[in-house]
Amino acid sequence: MIVTGKGGVGKTTVAVALGLRAASEGKRTIVCEVAAQENASRMFAHTEVGFHEVEMEENLWSISIDPDESMREYVLLQLKVRAMRDMLFRSRIFNYLAAATPGLKELVTIGKIWELAQLDRKVKSGRKYDLVIVDAPATGHGVGFLQTPRTFASIARVGPIHSQAQTLDRFITDHEHTGTAIVALPEEMPVNESVSLERDLREEVGVAVDRVYLNGLYPERFKKEEAEKLSALAENENGAARAAARAALSEHGRARSQRQQLSRLKKGVSAPVKTLPFLFEPELDVEAARKLAGKLG
Ligand SMILES: Nc1ncnc2c1ncn2[C@@H]1O[C@H](COP(=O)(O)OP(=O)(O)O)[C@@H](O)[C@H]1O
Ligand SMILES: [Mg+2]
Repeated sequence: MIVTGKGGVGKTTVAVALGLRAASEGKRTIVCEVAAQENASRMFAHTEVGFHEVEMEENLWSISIDPDESMREYVLLQLKVRAMRDMLFRSRIFNYLAAATPGLKELVTIGKIWELAQLDRKVKSGRKYDLVIVDAPATGHGVGFLQTPRTFASIARVGPIHSQAQTLDRFITDHEHTGTAIVALPEEMPVNESVSLERDLREEVGVAVDRVYLNGLYPERFKKEEAEKLSALAENENGAARAAARAALSEHGRARSQRQQLSRLKKGVSAPVKTLPFLFEPELDVEAARKLAGKLG
C-alpha cells in the first residue's frame, strides 16, 4: 500500500496510523520510508531506523530505505561471484554510473519495496510480511517515482534490467495486491492537487487508488444559531468576551470552509473519501497516530 500526497499533508502520520491499524488486526506489517525524508520512526520513542527491519510494536516493523544501501544489496544478490562484487564496489566507474543514471536510485528503492513484499524473501534474514506500507515521496515526485520501472523497462529493451524493471512495474500496477491512498488537506489548492494526483496515478502510472484521506478536519462545534449569537457577542461585547467570540467564529469559519472543500473533493475523485480529524496536540506521537488508526475505515 503506497501512501501518496503533497509534502506536509500527513502522509507519514497516515502511513504510521495504517501500520498500527493493520498490526492491531494481526497483520505482520512494515512501514517503509524512502529517500531520507522526515521519518516514521520519529513518532515512536525509538532509536533511529536505518536500512534494516526494526520492530516497533507487536506485528509492526519499520525500515528506512536508503538508495545506496539498496543498490549495494541488489548487486550483492545479483552477483554470486565474490571477486566480481568486490571489483564492482571498488570500481569508480560503477559509482559514477550509479550517481549519473537518472532514476536509478528510485528504481533500486522500488526494488527493495518489492523484495520486502515477497513471501520468498531474497534477503536471508528477511521476515514474511502480510502488508508493506510505503510512505511515498511528495506528489509530482511521487508519480515519477512510481513510473521509474516502466521508464527503465522501455530504455533497456532486453536483458536482466528489462525483465526486472518489468517485474517491478507489474508489481506496482497489480490491482489485486498493490494499492494507493492519497492524503489531502481540506484547502482549495491541496484538494485540486489531489484530484489531479488521482487522475495521474490511475491514468499515467496505472496503479489502483483505493482511498483518499482528507486529513486534519476541524470539528463543527457550533450550530447556525450559535454562530449568530457569537457574531452578536463579537460585535457588542468588549475585552475577553469579544476576543473569545472572535476566536470561536474564526474557527467556525474554517470548519465550514473545510466542509466545502470536502464536498469538492468528493465530487472530484472516484475513490472513496474518508476524513481524519485534526488532533489538537502539540506534537503527534504514536498514541496520536493510534487515535487516527481507529478512524481510517
Ligand atoms: N490529523 C492531524 N492533526 C494534527 N496534526 C497533524 C495531523 N496529521 C498530521 N499532522 C501534523 O502535520 C505535520 C505534517 O505531517 P506529516 O505526517 O509529517 O506529513 P508529510 O509526511 O505528508 O510531510 C506534522 O507535524 C504532523 O504531526
Ligand atoms: Mg513525511
